[in-house]
Amino acid sequence: MNSKVSDFSFSIYRRSILTLHLVYLQGLGDESQGRLKHLVPSIGKFFTKLPLERAFYVQDEKRSISARRLVSPSFNDIRLILNTAQTMSLVGGREPLKLVTFDGDVTLYEDGMSLTPENPIVERLLFLLQNNIYVGIVTAAGYSEISGEKYEVRLKGLIDAVNDSEILTQTQKESLLVMGGESNFLFRFDSSTGHLKWIDPQEWTLPEIAHWSEEDIQEVLNIGQAVLENEKNKLNLPATILRKERGVGIIPLPGKKICRESLEEIVLTAQRKLETSAVGKKIHFCAFNGGADVWVDIGDKRLGVLSLQKYLNDINGFQTLHVGDQFASVGANDFKARLAACTVWIASPAETVDIIDELLAYLIEANMYSRVRKVSVIGDV
Ligand code: IMP
Ligand code: MG
Repeated sequence: MNSKVSDFSFSIYRRSILTLHLVYLQGLGDESQGRLKHLVPSIGKFFTKLPLERAFYVQDEKRSISARRLVSPSFNDIRLILNTAQTMSLVGGREPLKLVTFDGDVTLYEDGMSLTPENPIVERLLFLLQNNIYVGIVTAAGYSEISGEKYEVRLKGLIDAVNDSEILTQTQKESLLVMGGESNFLFRFDSSTGHLKWIDPQEWTLPEIAHWSEEDIQEVLNIGQAVLENEKNKLNLPATILRKERGVGIIPLPGKKICRESLEEIVLTAQRKLETSAVGKKIHFCAFNGGADVWVDIGDKRLGVLSLQKYLNDINGFQTLHVGDQFASVGANDFKARLAACTVWIASPAETVDIIDELLAYLIEANMYSRVRKVSVIGDV
């Protein structure tokens, strides 16, 4: 290989990454002045600095990005560099990571499946708990029964592992929470029963949603349902409509599939119809494409993550990480969590395992470093 060419191309990558870093740092300051805000007006808030150069080196080792001659850095390269940078920045600082929230489908398990005992993510989640980090599962799946039975069935591998653990303390076990239906139903692991315990909404409901009336909520769902029914007929879909307490969905009949284009058409229609309705301006809703189905839910994952933060004694966005697969800006439901917390965007449960391994490695490194620092500080005294 021509090493001059390779050095040259590496320096270009390095410089563009450095530029990105500077631009991001500017975005951290006054939002109206930041250059990034100027270049991308829709850019959101940055909760932490992003060590993009360091992250690039890590991903370059894995993906040989700078060694490629013909294929330029891809969307996935950038997504993974940003994920690494975000996990790096969340450990070892003065404000340690306190809460990691996970989406369910496609993030913890394959779409529509459950968390089984052999899933490699289980031991990583236990390790987070062992490090005194709260673990929250923030899923759109909405089961209103206060027994929490349906969540237990879907999360059985994890619930059993937490219950059986002889390493975790009672407090660490009770640091496992489930926020279901986007932001509608909160459960916490109860170490005295070994089951999930329903938490009264009065303990965690945010002031911004406390005044929502049941009438308005049902009106949003009625509009959503009418759109789904209309689209089902118009697009001639082999599907059925399912109405729940806090959501309404269109799901394919057994053995049938709704194509991506139809799913997107339904989401965009529901979104537009609700956005322009009077009640849609009062109640937060989330219309999203679940990959095989479309849902209109009351609430969203921003509210879900914020409610958890509030319930756990006001955890900040810069001490929270949300891991999810749906971050496209239209028709995706993890996207809203970006407004409440740091995020990493994964594409499969295997990628969730990889990013949590990275996070744990940085955590162990930071703990070792802080122990060395503590020892040397004590020695200095
Ligand atoms: P998530 O990826 O964990 O947020 O789960 C999203 C998936 O949960 C959707 O694609 C649906 O298949 C399923 N689901 C089950 N019940 C509900 C509900 O009440 N609202 C939205 N999605 C639901
Ligand atoms: Mg998902």
